[in-house]
This record gives sequence, structure tokens and C-alpha cells, in this order.
Amino acid sequence: MSDASALPPLTRIEALDTPLVAVDLARVERNIAALQAYCDAHALDNRPHIKTHKLPFIAHLQLRAGARGLTVQTLGEAEVMVASGVRDLLLTYDLVGETKAQRLARLALLADVRVAIDNELALDTVGRAAALSGRRIGVLVEFESGKRRQGVLTPEAARDLALRVQEHPLLDPLGLMTYPSSAEVVAFVARARALFEEAGLPLHVVSAGGTPGMWRAHELTGVTEYRAGTSVYHDRKSLEDGSGTLDDVALHVHVTVVSSPDADRVVIDAGSKVLTSDLLPAGREAGYGLVLEYPEAVVRELSEEHGVLDLRACRARPSLGERLRIVPNHVCPVSNLVDEVALHEGGTLLAMLPVVARGKR
Ligand SMILES: Cc1ncc(COP(=O)(O)O)c(C=O)c1O
Repeated sequence: MSDASALPPLTRIEALDTPLVAVDLARVERNIAALQAYCDAHALDNRPHIKTHKLPFIAHLQLRAGARGLTVQTLGEAEVMVASGVRDLLLTYDLVGETKAQRLARLALLADVRVAIDNELALDTVGRAAALSGRRIGVLVEFESGKRRQGVLTPEAARDLALRVQEHPLLDPLGLMTYPSSAEVVAFVARARALFEEAGLPLHVVSAGGTPGMWRAHELTGVTEYRAGTSVYHDRKSLEDGSGTLDDVALHVHVTVVSSPDADRVVIDAGSKVLTSDLLPAGREAGYGLVLEYPEAVVRELSEEHGVLDLRACRARPSLGERLRIVPNHVCPVSNLVDEVALHEGGTLLAMLPVVARGKR
């Protein structure tokens, strides 16, 4: 038997250099379990969006907890997930062009891939991928529900596009998809369901998503599947919209105070290259993140490598060389900016995980 006391001590994340993105495994697992339990309680298929973590390790935790499949935004994210052994994916983005069709065809040979579309050019791309691979591909018609991004605008347009999907011998019209999930979803789906029935079209899946509304997804009558991304880590936006608490936040940016030029401010070694330039709805006044140790400090200005903390509202001030932890405003783009994250359990380093799906288009 080996003598544990003879082993070298395990690394603490406080010993790792900053800026550092640290991910708390216990909190991740708790957040995954909470979403799964909610979806199970309300008979919703859980299809988490991997854009938040971009890590196969966490994707497989989500699947093991009971997720029906995963959601990706890009073919590159899908390729990384399929390479790690994921076999059920929804791609929520209009794919256009022959190269994309070829990449989708390769994925369709390895996994059950569904794609959301809102136009005929994207439909042609998915149809071409099905023809190239000889595999059936499920298609969801994306509809607009408040974000004014992708999505057909009316239930009639959704029906017409689904009819076009049905004409293709290898495409299966499965239903509808939208993001985010506002109250508008219910009326849209009810009207679409009547139109689909009239046209003899199946409506097996209605996929909605977004962390801000996740705990009320069951109120969206007609929705069958939910795609939450941010909830795996939560962020300052979650604290604002009430979807998560400070205790649920699983990702922190560790920084060091590197300059203390005057009484009102200090400078940290993390700027927009880690914290991103994303603001809260409250705007610049609320700054670029929440400093856990000094919550009254405002992360006022960011350059690429510098963050300026405005200390005017603080009773105590951080000292030069002090290490701080920051909850980012919006966590998804933070994952996209770092090569690796430090996975830890109570501060003990478990692994430096490469963020393999970062930057993958
Ligand atoms: C299509 C789609 N579905 C789901 C999500 C997940 O949203 P959230 O991170 O708020 O959970 C996103 C986020 O951008 C998205 O674009």
C-alpha cells in the first residue's frame, strides 16, 4: 500500500499564475443536477448548450446526468463534441454553402445531428448534407420570439418552410426552435400547431432556451425541450436576472493587483482579453465584473491586459500584489478567450482542461 503522506502535496489553485480562469467542479455538478431535475420534473427534454463551457469533459457530465443530447452553435463546436464521443446534437444556426454541407455530411455519418433553419438556402445546405451522407437529418424551423435575430416571423411562414423540408426525401421536419423564450412563444406555438396539423406536418419537438427564463420554462405550454447554456457556470447576469446565486457561480477569474497609482484606484492583470467587453443591461456604471472580495469596487475601465478598479465606494482597499476573484458579467465569451481552465475541487487543482471548442467556427 502506498503511503499517502509520502506523496507530494496537491497543487492549490491559489498557487497558479494569474490571470487564471478557475472552474469549481462541485458547483458545476450541482448546477447540472439542478437543471436536469427541473427538466425531469416538468417532462422537458434537457439539451444544454455547450457554448458556455466548450469542454468535452463537462459535456459528458451533462449527458451522464440525463441530458437528451447537446446543443452547439457552430459546425466546429459540433466537430469537437463528436470527436469526443457525443452522438446527439442540435445545431442552432443557419448553415449556408457547399463546404458547410460537406462538414455536416461528415458529422451526420457519425452522430444524430439536427439542424435549425429559417430560410431556403439553409434548407438547401442541410438537404445537400443529407444527400452527400445518405443519412436522414432532422430539421427544426427557427422562429422569432423577441431577440430579433434569426427566425421566421409568423406561424404561417414556419409551416411553409416545414412543408419544403418535408419535400426532401432525406430530411425530417421535427418541429420548431426559438431563442430566447419569451411569453410570445406560447401563442406562436399554439397557432403553428393548428397549422401544422392542418397541413399533415409533424410537430414532435418545440425547442426553447436561455438561462434567464429557465426556471419558468414549464409555463411555456407546448415547449418540449430546453436549451440552457450559462446555467452550468452562471455569471453576474444570472445574479441580476435571478436564475442563479453567488453560491451557484462556478467560474471565477483570478487576478492580481499589479499597480496602485492613487487612492481611488488599483489596476489588475485582467482586461478585455479575459473579462470581455460585455456589460450588464445597467451599462458602464456597473462595470465589467463583480469583485468577490471587494463588491463595492467597480471594474471601471478595461484595456486588453489592464483592468482599472474604481475604489471610491470601498471601505477597504486591496493592496499591491493581492489576489482577487472576479465573477464575469457574461461567462460564455470568457471560455472562448482562454486556452485552458483550472478545474478544482474546493481549491485543489484537479486538471488544467484545454478549452478545445474555443474559437471553433
Ligand atoms: C440558440 C441558443 N440557444 C440557447 C442558448 C443558451 O442561452 P443561455 O446561455 O442564456 O442559457 C443560446 C445562447 O446564446 C443560444 O444562442
